[in-house]
Amino acid sequence: MLRSAFLWLSERRGVFNFVKRNGLARRFASRFVAGETLDTAIAAARDLNQRDITVTLDLLGESVTSREEAREASNQAVEILNRIHASGVRGNVSVKLTQMGLDIDRTVALENMTRILDRARELQSFARIDMEASAYVEPTLDLFRNGLHERFGDTTGVVIQSMLRRSADDVADLIARHARVRLVKGAYSEPASIAFPDKRDVDRSFATLAERLLAEGNYPAIATHDERLIRHVTEFVAHEGIANSRFEFQMLYGVRRDLQDRLRREGYNVRVYVPFGTQWYPYLMRRLGERPANVAFIVGNLLKETVSRR
Ligand code: FDA
Repeated sequence: MLRSAFLWLSERRGVFNFVKRNGLARRFASRFVAGETLDTAIAAARDLNQRDITVTLDLLGESVTSREEAREASNQAVEILNRIHASGVRGNVSVKLTQMGLDIDRTVALENMTRILDRARELQSFARIDMEASAYVEPTLDLFRNGLHERFGDTTGVVIQSMLRRSADDVADLIARHARVRLVKGAYSEPASIAFPDKRDVDRSFATLAERLLAEGNYPAIATHDERLIRHVTEFVAHEGIANSRFEFQMLYGVRRDLQDRLRREGYNVRVYVPFGTQWYPYLMRRLGERPANVAFIVGNLLKETVSRR
């Protein structure tokens, strides 16, 4: 219920304009977003690297409506790759296809992704294509399968959401193609016809898909903060004799820092997804929807501010 409300809010531009002017919301956003510029993101990446954690940088922004905006977004992704290389940061980049023009025309997105991946390959880096709401799953996988993966191979990868009923088939197909997959639960609100409405089924699906990817996949990324599922994975790899070098855990910037460090100390590869940029509102709303305690944090601070002003 609360989650749906935040997902609904994430699509309201008018609310964003209001929230953007609010100091508390901006401060709260800074917990999940590494600033508004590439400089602040690189600084956050350096801090994470010092904890021996790698990063994937994401310039926040979703569906663009003009070719110029899409082109500009791809220029920025290339710039991120250049800065990562020049600064010696251990990291790569994540992008969204709607940011690259998928809503305008498939060929616009293909052209922009090709520029990014050409540069990623020159730098021996990597660009992950994030997964968006269900309407984009087929177009995203189609562009990945028929255009990007066959040309760029391990320079790129996709994301599979365990909440979707179709994901078992998609995972089988991607394993057969030797494609790199990040497994997540899924951050969007989807109808029961295509997604598991019960969280327990989403978690069960995650565990099953993680096992398949770990056993047969190509360096999968297991992206969750769910300790139970993380334990399931560590027990599974120990039991199957799967080396730590064959996969990585991924978590979000600002979420469960303790767990990130603990897994790294235990010898697992850990990568943190570092979002930055001015378009932080929809991202922040999705994070709030995932954890009611975050809302309590905001309300608590609002109360404190109100009391201290008296
Ligand atoms: P779940 O939501 O069940 O949370 C398990 C526990 O983790 C919670 O009890 C809490 O302790 C902690 N936790 C989770 N979220 C928190 C938060 N926001 N604040 C504080 N604590 C929190 N989704 C998508 O649809 N497409 C994508 O491309 C990606 N990409 C992506 C990359 C990476 C690296 C990660 C980690 C996640 C994504 N996601 C995503 C988001 C993903 O789908 C999912 O919404 C979140 O990871 C939250 O789900 P959990 O697996 O953490 O479990």
